[in-house]
Amino acid sequence: MSDGTRDTLSGSMSPVDPHVIVLVGATGDLAKRKLLPGLLHLFEAGLLPGCRVVGTSLDDFDDDQFREFARKACDEFGARPVRNQDWQEFGALLGYVPQGAGPAALADVVAAAETELGEQARRLHYLSVPPKAALPVVRTLDEAGLVARSRIIMEKPFGTDLDSAVSLNTELHKTFDEAQIFRIDHFLGKEAAQNILAFRFANGLFEPIWNRNFIDHVQIDVPEKLGLESRAEFYESTGAYKDMVVTHLMQVLAFMAMEPPTELAPAPISEEKNKVFRSMKPLEPAQVVRGQYGGYRDEQGVSPESDTETFVALRCEIDNWRWAGVPFFLRTGKRLAEGARIISIAFREPPKSMFPHGSGVGAHGPDHLTFDLAEAAKLSLSFYGKRPGTGMKLDKLSLQFALEETGREGSVLEAYERLIHDAMRGDHTLFTTAEGIERLWDVSRPLLANPPPVRAYAAGSWGPNPIHQLIAPHAWRLPFERTWRSRGSI
Ligand code: BG6
Repeated sequence: MSDGTRDTLSGSMSPVDPHVIVLVGATGDLAKRKLLPGLLHLFEAGLLPGCRVVGTSLDDFDDDQFREFARKACDEFGARPVRNQDWQEFGALLGYVPQGAGPAALADVVAAAETELGEQARRLHYLSVPPKAALPVVRTLDEAGLVARSRIIMEKPFGTDLDSAVSLNTELHKTFDEAQIFRIDHFLGKEAAQNILAFRFANGLFEPIWNRNFIDHVQIDVPEKLGLESRAEFYESTGAYKDMVVTHLMQVLAFMAMEPPTELAPAPISEEKNKVFRSMKPLEPAQVVRGQYGGYRDEQGVSPESDTETFVALRCEIDNWRWAGVPFFLRTGKRLAEGARIISIAFREPPKSMFPHGSGVGAHGPDHLTFDLAEAAKLSLSFYGKRPGTGMKLDKLSLQFALEETGREGSVLEAYERLIHDAMRGDHTLFTTAEGIERLWDVSRPLLANPPPVRAYAAGSWGPNPIHQLIAPHAWRLPFERTWRSRGSI
């Protein structure tokens, strides 16, 4: 185990108090894939000093059954093999209360854990539950007397439109103060997303050209190969726009587009992100392509007449001094040709070319700066350069950087791990705010009121054909013409 010290976004390391983590939805998909393996990793890294985890969900487990469930989840989904010694220590911290046992039973188990941890113990409630269950869980926590000394992590979607988001926030605020609420968007916890801030604001080279005078357009492209993965019920009532765009893609867009914050602290960063959302033009349905993969309506749990989009591509604009007139193209969908998460920034072409006809200049599109937000994050800057030899032939070349080159890829915390740890420290920097979310629903209004029809696309493709008209005269950057270089290759 490490000594538990590590850098934080703001550079200041506030200590983590002892915590009882109440994991609601503890036997669900997210808990299994991310939260339980993530908590184990935080424990192994020495980042959970003094901690008990109380799982609760609809399953009628006892402590041992929950431990067994958690161990299997960590074996199957953890990023590294589980060491028995670590498991013995971590497993002993886990307890379980079936939701059916009621608020008093939950309160008793939390109280017992707090007796062991001491008076200064805090509570972290992680609500890994479907949207309709969120407020009932908030009421249970209130009835169990677990609101004091607590923080609460909420999962998206935060409402399904402006009215429901406002009413969700109003209801939440009856029980929890805004300072206690951590609305998680795991894309912001990705190491590479934070690197956008470092890249932009720690270097003098790029910020001067980070505006409409030099940038032609921006693409935020998150195709997924995955399908529904037994989430039909959730997905049918959500769709690609609410699942991915109004959440993850817009949050990443804000990091890419915001003004420099006055400091790397929660309030200044949220303020700059919210200014981006405030400047965003309402989304026009004519600038949106919705798609549905062939065979979706035959999936178990999907209506044969489903109008839910499994794909969405759109153009949006940020109407401020920095970005006026620069289109942002966003795309995401299920069962596409490849899985990727990129932000690609296309620079303007030179005003005049002295290179001879046929030299190849401009033949491969504009220069691009591309962030790959994968776990193994990468960055590439492409440019035209001379092909060695006689004459003046130009090729598209690139400078590339990969996280693995730092030799520190082992220090990376997975997005959920990072965000859980931040919430325990009370650091809101990488969480979304009620104001930002409500504004995003506000700009979504024309689209939600008047969605364009869903168009069929073949599973394994890049989406329905109109995506090319949407982005014309530009072209989608994916699929890449060239592959990323791997370590050791030139
Ligand atoms: C989730 C969405 O929030 O993000 C899923 O609900 C999506 O539909 C997932 O697959 C993508 O996250 P990641 O980290 O795997 O890119």
